[in-house]
Amino acid sequence: MMFKKGQTAYSLINGTDHDSHELLSVRNPADDSLLANVTQVNTVEADFAVEVASECFEQLKKSTAQARSNILYKWYQLIMDNQSRLAELVTLEQGKPIQESKAEVVYAAGYVRWFAQQAERVCGTVIPAHTPNHQITTHKQGVGVVLGITPWNFPLAMVTRKVAPAYAAGCSFILKPSELTPLSAIELAKLALQAGMEQGAFQVLVSDNPQALIRHLNSKKIIRKLTFTGSTQVGKLLYAQCVETMKRASLELGGNAPFIVFDSANIESAIDGLMIAKFRNAGQTCIAANRVFVHRDIKAEFLEQLIRRVDSLKVGNGLIAGSDIGPLINQAAKTKACELVEDAIAAGANCIVQNIEELQTGAFMSPVILDMVVPDMKIFQSEIFAPVVSIIEFDSELQVTSLANAVDAGLAAYVYSASMKQVSRVSNALNFGMVGINEGAISNPAAPFGGMKESGLGREGGIEGIDEYLETRYFCQHI
Ligand code: SIN
Repeated sequence: MMFKKGQTAYSLINGTDHDSHELLSVRNPADDSLLANVTQVNTVEADFAVEVASECFEQLKKSTAQARSNILYKWYQLIMDNQSRLAELVTLEQGKPIQESKAEVVYAAGYVRWFAQQAERVCGTVIPAHTPNHQITTHKQGVGVVLGITPWNFPLAMVTRKVAPAYAAGCSFILKPSELTPLSAIELAKLALQAGMEQGAFQVLVSDNPQALIRHLNSKKIIRKLTFTGSTQVGKLLYAQCVETMKRASLELGGNAPFIVFDSANIESAIDGLMIAKFRNAGQTCIAANRVFVHRDIKAEFLEQLIRRVDSLKVGNGLIAGSDIGPLINQAAKTKACELVEDAIAAGANCIVQNIEELQTGAFMSPVILDMVVPDMKIFQSEIFAPVVSIIEFDSELQVTSLANAVDAGLAAYVYSASMKQVSRVSNALNFGMVGINEGAISNPAAPFGGMKESGLGREGGIEGIDEYLETRYFCQHI
């Protein structure tokens, strides 16, 4: 392991461990044991980090895309070289099963490699001029100092998905990671330094009063861009703050994904997809299948197969081989999920797998399948973020499309059908930024990840991902 259990870890300012008596405790959600105490950053120290980032941005303006690309490649390689140790750290502080943590390391590193490539593809244009004696050109440059706020559910991938494109574009980055999982972010930043990244290019500020720290940083004029992954509620507050300084914002917010299984679908493959889309990270992903719509004619068979698969899932400490579902991030997350389940049952849903009384101890939660969920239940409108499958029966394409769209979120959706015409019609009609078509695993660095409606603004990854960190300037030259 890179850090020893119980030891002090440090916020990282100007490439240096930040010493402080103010410590934040990081605990293992599997057993609540103390993992590390992390030094915190107050607003004065944060101001210094902003100054450093601002100077670094000026320095980065003079660097070449090729030089930044080389550093990103080295960072990618170092992340991969440290796959086992990083994966163990993710499981310790976040709880997910070790095989999922290993996959997250590859996913996180993939963003770094992707943007190492994209760094050298940022080009301006020459536009036919409006008169013979003018030349019109466009130029792209990094937007400036970036403030990033990342969640606890993917402590590595959500960081690299933001820092790598920002650096590729020539921006310096100040990260406020989740106070629940800051250790992975600190390790990533150390590896970036080892790869040759400038000291002010990627700083990590930890605080147990994140609202105050973010409010302080977000009011800075010198920070030109905010990128946030988290809840829609917090995203709206942050977006409103950005208005004061006219900061650009990318917001990757909550989802409420419909997972639609038509009567022609291959049931086994739909269930394979659902097991990923629902149970990855114990259901704690914003693209998790939140509402599973199953055509009335195949529901009985679908449920029979699903129950068998869900019964075989093992809930347990993510470090123990064979665990499929680790703990939820904390007791509060479990309480919230159980309340949604109880509310649905009280409103008429049928709990066909798991009895709430039998849910495991601590933050562990056994899978739940609820049948007969209907749109006016709270669970239909809420992001569940737990291993709970809500089944909604439907009869027609029109009905299911309109039900699927009848929520504020618009992040991911999934459609299973053997009819190519039907999947085309339905995918087009769904108001969601990403659609899995006969596929439950849609995340990858080459794809533009992001949502419509209240699921946010902007795209991360893909060709679009770097645009979020670029300013387009236009020169009109008299010749
Ligand atoms: C998220 O849950 O915010 C991200 C999930 C992913 O990248 O697959």
